[in-house]
Amino acid sequence: MRMLVFGGTGMLGRALAAEGRRRNQPVLALSRAQGDVRDRRRLAYWAGAFAPEVIVNCAAFTQVDACEERRQHALEVNGEAVAHVAAAAAGAGAALVQVSSDYVFDGGGSRPYREDDPLGPLSVYGESKRLGEERALAYERALVVRASWLFGAGGPSFPATIRRLIADGKTPLRVVDDQVGAPTYTPYLARAIWDLAQRRATGVVHYRNRPPVSWYGVACEIAAAVRPRAEVVPVTTSEFPRPAPRPAYSVLDVGRFEELVGRAVEPWLAGLTDFLDTMARREGNSGD
Ligand SMILES: NC(=O)c1ccc[n+]([C@@H]2O[C@H](COP(=O)([O-])OP(=O)(O)OC[C@H]3O[C@@H](n4cnc5c(N)ncnc54)[C@H](OP(=O)(O)O)[C@@H]3O)[C@@H](O)[C@H]2O)c1
Repeated sequence: MRMLVFGGTGMLGRALAAEGRRRNQPVLALSRAQGDVRDRRRLAYWAGAFAPEVIVNCAAFTQVDACEERRQHALEVNGEAVAHVAAAAAGAGAALVQVSSDYVFDGGGSRPYREDDPLGPLSVYGESKRLGEERALAYERALVVRASWLFGAGGPSFPATIRRLIADGKTPLRVVDDQVGAPTYTPYLARAIWDLAQRRATGVVHYRNRPPVSWYGVACEIAAAVRPRAEVVPVTTSEFPRPAPRPAYSVLDVGRFEELVGRAVEPWLAGLTDFLDTMARREGNSGD
């Protein structure tokens, strides 16, 4: 399956390209400079030149707090531009996968969010991702994959930050314990997207790793792996005010994914172990 990826140099874009290589499938993963999603003609050019069977849009303005100040930019890149990606897919006769976020929900729930639950973004980022979903789903061959709390090589993430702080001895570390969600390892999400694309899934599908946990719970696992005696202290969200509000309960129901693909979602702890090993190997090789 020929796959064209916009936002191909980000954390998930790289993982999709790596999964394509593993499967011996042709992938063209473009940087922002090569394919700015706001540039409709450029996207149409790439779709015509590469003739993909599927286009995956990973391009996004992902700095959640910065989106509050740059609302127009967030709505343009994460929202309106998705119509250009969909038009490029339609022009090439390709399917479209739009990557979205748990932040489209308000986090006030107490059971995992299903695909058809009402949306209610709390932040500009969430609002912009909801607009992107709408623009994608206007195309009949579109699949929206909502994921949560991504981490992996090649981008900033919560585990990367916590690992660095612990390694630098910035402890005791105060970490929020009243936001519950589910980390998602980008190589697992990439595999999930390839599997869904190959099954020609459309509509909306949720994907995340298991089981649900708080940020504090994730930080404790990182500390246990990196420096077991490092002190990690649970705190509340109110002790950590940030420009963009975060959903308190952000667990996605993955029943539809598991039914479509025929396997359970992976445990995030296995991904975290692989991620920490990869980081340690890379630093070892670079002589840090
Ligand atoms: N990170 C998370 O926790 C999380 C959670 C749920 C869903 N998601 C979604 O998952 C997808 C992938 O996220 P990620 O974590 O891989 O993000 P990322 O590492 O920040 O990568 C985003 C990519 O988009 C590119 N980009 C930004 N503006 C662009 C534009 N105008 N045109 C084309 N490319 C542009 C960036 O290029 P530059 O580096 O040059 O700016 C970068 O390559 C996004 O849709 C995101 O909203 C992320």
